[in-house]
Amino acid sequence: MTDKAADSSAREAEDKDRHPLAMETLVSLCAARGFVYPASEIYSGIAGFWDYGPLGVELKNNLKARWWNLVVRGRDDVVGIDSAIISHPRTWEASGHVDHFSDPMVDCRSCNKRYRADQYEGGRCSKAPKDHPTGECDLTEAREFNLMLRTELGASADTAIMAYLRPETCQPIFSGFKRVREAARQKLPFGIAQIGKAFRNEITPRNFTFRSREFEQAEMEFFCHPSEREEWFAHWREERLQFHLDLGIDEKLLRTRPHADDELAHYARAAEDVEFLFPFGWQEIEGIHDRGDWDLSRHSEYSGKDLAITDEKTKEHFTPMVIETSVGIDRTCLALLVAAYCEESVEGGETRKVMRFHPAIAPIKVAVLPLSKKLAEPAKAIQRDLRKHLNAFYDDSGNIGRRYRRQDEVGTPFCVTYDFDSESDGCVTIRDRDTMDQERVPIEGIVRRLRDRLEEGL
Ligand code: GAP
Repeated sequence: MTDKAADSSAREAEDKDRHPLAMETLVSLCAARGFVYPASEIYSGIAGFWDYGPLGVELKNNLKARWWNLVVRGRDDVVGIDSAIISHPRTWEASGHVDHFSDPMVDCRSCNKRYRADQYEGGRCSKAPKDHPTGECDLTEAREFNLMLRTELGASADTAIMAYLRPETCQPIFSGFKRVREAARQKLPFGIAQIGKAFRNEITPRNFTFRSREFEQAEMEFFCHPSEREEWFAHWREERLQFHLDLGIDEKLLRTRPHADDELAHYARAAEDVEFLFPFGWQEIEGIHDRGDWDLSRHSEYSGKDLAITDEKTKEHFTPMVIETSVGIDRTCLALLVAAYCEESVEGGETRKVMRFHPAIAPIKVAVLPLSKKLAEPAKAIQRDLRKHLNAFYDDSGNIGRRYRRQDEVGTPFCVTYDFDSESDGCVTIRDRDTMDQERVPIEGIVRRLRDRLEEGL
């Protein structure tokens, strides 16, 4: 079993600290407003798979763009790639996933369900104790269960090759290390990054999107000289924590936690998690790992191609060390949704729900709302102008108060209202989501004004 997974699930059960939000509240808002909902919902869903709706995909894309801009485009020493999801099967022998990437599982002979052994202890299967004469479950011995998802390549069953859907996105970075370094003319220290799908056949997917079978990772592998690994580990740990703080997540909801020696993954020499306080306790959203020379050495051995490098000045021939940053896009989206959710009393004893997203990741940046449908034409012209620069939404149905509430609930930072005076004074009202303050401003120059206000929060 992956030590890391066992430890994490034990803590999932034990953690006393919890975010006060009820998960059901968030799950139903996410489905109703089109953030995230079960995949194949009309067939009762499929465990561990989720679809992102119109707002969810914007949130996710904004998060990925922010990561890419900061980690790849914002630095001279990191380059990006986009590799195939399926690698040569030897990749996963070399990486250690064929031998080490497993959890112990038990089967119940009564209900034919499979449980993770570490999560089952003290629990009961669905048939116990009512249908059991002894009140006990009839469990098999624990067996190792590899978490990689398999598929077959080729038309005929006899000649098909078995392949794996990648359980982490980083392995093609290691196998392509030499090609990318030469093509990008990079010298140590430097990093290679990519964002993409990963798949794990989790025995018990749970906690909404937190533990899924298909998810996205944004990973960066930083290659350095062995003498610099501690320095780069410390650098990336600080950078990555700051990334989450800069997303507007309250510092009380974030912490870092170093791994004890007995919880390290098979490839790691040291690791530190960035954890978020979810309604189900403190849990990892990102891992920073010192992978040493594990991956490059193993791929050299299994492929027969030398992935070590020679320092031009010193002529030293060595295998670079790797510091990895690996953030789950879905887990971070979930953390952002939890952190943003807010209910507050407003005038008249009403309660309003607000998603207080940081403007950079808010799915919709501005909503254009004419006071009356009669004003649709000029209001739509403003939206057309705005959408060249920002994700601008238009809504003219229902009374204005209700339309403001709808935008609050999906976290739109600003609403622009076109009213009956706008025609004569050439002005509109900008309403701020958080303060609900309204400001009358000229239509001319509104794009710049909104962009400035959005950037104020960046
Ligand atoms: N390459 C290293 C690696 O994959 P990991 O800690 O197993 O390390 C990194 O995964 C990140 O991927 C985690 O911090 C988490 O955010 C995300 N992740 C891992 N398993 C996941 C799952 N079953 N569902 C959703 N996200 C997951």
